[in-house]
Amino acid sequence: MSTQRAQFGTRLGVIATTVGSAVGLGNIWRFPYEAGAHGGGAFLLIYIGFIFLIGVPVICAEFIMGRGTRRNIFGAFRTLHSNRCWAWVGYMGILASILILSFYSVVAGWTIEYLVEAVSGSLDTAGNGAELHNRFDHFVSGWRPVMWTLAFLAVNAVILFRGVRGGIEKASNILMPVLFVILIIFCINSLLLPKAGEGLWFMFHPDFSKVDSGTLIGALGQAFFSLSLGLGTLMTYSSYFSDSTPLVKSAVTTASLDTVVAILAGIIIFPAVFTYGCEPAAGPKLVFEVLPAIFHQMPGGTLWAILFFFLLFLASLTSTISMSEICIAFFCEQTGMSRRNATLLNTGIAMGLGTLCALSFGPMSNFTIAGLTVFNLFDYLSSNILLPLGGMLISIFVGWIVDRRLVRSQLAGTGNLPHLLLRAITFCLRYVAPAGILLVFLSGLNII
Ligand code: PHE
Repeated sequence: MSTQRAQFGTRLGVIATTVGSAVGLGNIWRFPYEAGAHGGGAFLLIYIGFIFLIGVPVICAEFIMGRGTRRNIFGAFRTLHSNRCWAWVGYMGILASILILSFYSVVAGWTIEYLVEAVSGSLDTAGNGAELHNRFDHFVSGWRPVMWTLAFLAVNAVILFRGVRGGIEKASNILMPVLFVILIIFCINSLLLPKAGEGLWFMFHPDFSKVDSGTLIGALGQAFFSLSLGLGTLMTYSSYFSDSTPLVKSAVTTASLDTVVAILAGIIIFPAVFTYGCEPAAGPKLVFEVLPAIFHQMPGGTLWAILFFFLLFLASLTSTISMSEICIAFFCEQTGMSRRNATLLNTGIAMGLGTLCALSFGPMSNFTIAGLTVFNLFDYLSSNILLPLGGMLISIFVGWIVDRRLVRSQLAGTGNLPHLLLRAITFCLRYVAPAGILLVFLSGLNII
């Protein structure tokens, strides 16, 4: 077991890496399609409520455990409590990280395909709904998605070999601000589209008659997925924080920036969805069907497309690096495996499962379990069940079981913590987060 752990260098590095983990395909690909499938405005409002009432306190809980113990998720539970049962939350996190890495890499692979097409000039086609739909369907039903999934995982592994500081921190520091600026430019472009008004109305006008248990589960799952929460990513990252990193502030900054990026993505996508006659509830394909049409209509569209897909590819990498880190830290620290072997193992498993996910849109589209393709099953199981369940257990653990003094000292760090803030966070961890998550689960089972 190693006692010498790496640390993130600067305060900016801390924010950039946590935001780098949070911001990714979850915001730009998953948020619009979830919002589209669950009625738009009402989903957004519920989502924001979950982010700040449940997400922020649970981020704080992960930070407290991570920096308080300087261990991986499994080791953190073992250090803080002698009962072995709690370590199961760690196993759940590791399982979720592998499931997510598998299907996430498929979508990251799609971004590589679109990047390559943009570079070769073949992405530039005028679009109406049906053409855009056929174009994507044609691509995903073949074998190319498998190739790109494997290529993406290979790149991910190469970066992981280089360790915590070298790869992750540098890439995130440069990448995030650039991505942000590009998104704002795209938003302005979308706001000028003919049916921008309809798109914005869909996204911002809450129609509560559309809210059902699916909306609640979808919004909760999306909140956890987008914040990289409930599986130990932020716990693992915070184990590399320095003692002076302010935890509450970092949690609020991460959640706010992540939410802003998701909203920007919505402002980019929905005006285009209505302008080009696509279906908001199209599911995982939505964004990839709509984007080529957006680029086609932009002046200099091909160059924008290249820039966008390149950045999206990098944003996906900073997220997959963070989810792989959970597994790697676990294997290295709990079993004494070398970092290299742990990375190879993690990548190997994800390559196998990722191939099945990539084929879910084509050759394996008829293979379903409980009515879901492998891709959808992994997504549903991890985002909507494992992450919120993990978050609930982490908040109960930190709210009720962990020594109060550790909670206070970690939240205060080297500065002062207002008493009211401590009480508010503790209250959320003890009552609001566990009860909120439980109610959403119960509504999903049609019990309430
Ligand atoms: N939050 C990431 C995104 O929005 C995905 C992710 C989930 C990363 C879980 C790490 C762990 O793209």
